Amino acid sequence: MKKWLRKWRLATVIAVLALVLSGCGEPFLSALKPAGEVAKQQYDLILFSLGIMTLVVIVVVVLFAIVLVRFRRKNNSEIPKQVEGSHTLEIIWTVIPIIIILVLAVPTVAATFSQGDVSAMDKKDKDGNRENLVVNVRAHLYWWEFEYEDLGILTSQDLVIPTDQKVYFNVESADIKHSFWIPPLGGKLDANPENVNKFFLSVDQDKADDVNNIFYGKCAELCGPSHAYMDFKVKAIPQDEFDQWVADMQNAEEPVPTSELAKKGEEVFNDSCISCHAVTPSNDTPPQARTAPNLADFGNRETVAGILEHNEESLKEWIKDPEQFKPGNKMTGAYPDLKDDELDALAAYLMELKVGNE
Ligand code: CUA
Repeated sequence: MKKWLRKWRLATVIAVLALVLSGCGEPFLSALKPAGEVAKQQYDLILFSLGIMTLVVIVVVVLFAIVLVRFRRKNNSEIPKQVEGSHTLEIIWTVIPIIIILVLAVPTVAATFSQGDVSAMDKKDKDGNRENLVVNVRAHLYWWEFEYEDLGILTSQDLVIPTDQKVYFNVESADIKHSFWIPPLGGKLDANPENVNKFFLSVDQDKADDVNNIFYGKCAELCGPSHAYMDFKVKAIPQDEFDQWVADMQNAEEPVPTSELAKKGEEVFNDSCISCHAVTPSNDTPPQARTAPNLADFGNRETVAGILEHNEESLKEWIKDPEQFKPGNKMTGAYPDLKDDELDALAAYLMELKVGNE
């Protein structure tokens, strides 16, 4: 291949990579755009260690270059002074790395312990209520359940939290290992089936304003063919709006279909779907109604199944063949095939499921 062509090929690869990677900086999904105290601290640690490592690389490269030039073979082939076994040098190159490691370790270990401190999780006020919001996160193949135990609320795929305060999480898994990660807020934390992991996160209100209150969360542990599609929404709102949301969720009643079509959809739902999905956001739904996402607020979701556009068309496509969108999911084959008119009715019914007056 001609030399100039090869050079251009490299330039093209770099250009395409730059284009693709420029998508990584979205503030609702980037660990490099921290939106809360925990994420900011982790981000600062990244920059700090990166700075020190850069310094080390520069010093080593400069020394290397000096040595290469200064001690290159010369015509007179004179042998420079030999320094094997030099005490001074050995002390220098042992002590400097130890100092560097200490400088890296002290802030890292301190941050690890302060961010792992969940002692405030169970603090109660004088009425015996928890002072802080605690959310139980349960990961499933391939979706997320959020239980607000103290508030009696259960949601799926939508995590709603108040801004400007610490929110505590109990993270576990219903099946295999997953990992709970909201890149702009910090983390990640393993979701294991055999134990509960705990930590806290927080969101700054002004950062939430920048993204219209919506962040995205992901599964960060390779868990199967649809691992990359195991996304969820994080809605961060001011305390008063959060209180309103809580009241709406607590007062939610059985949904009542408003049209003939939606009424027929409810029948289809009750025949085929209700054994796994609940349509009220209460956390005392029986365990078998928690094996699939709670659909109480489905009409207000931003996506279908966490990945598709939120409209009736993609909803019907999803119900018709979930396997083509999320391979290996547990919905495939769990209900009989539906006819087109049944799908229309079911989609109409599901899109009507809304809690509150959003
Ligand atoms: Cu769940 Cu990856």
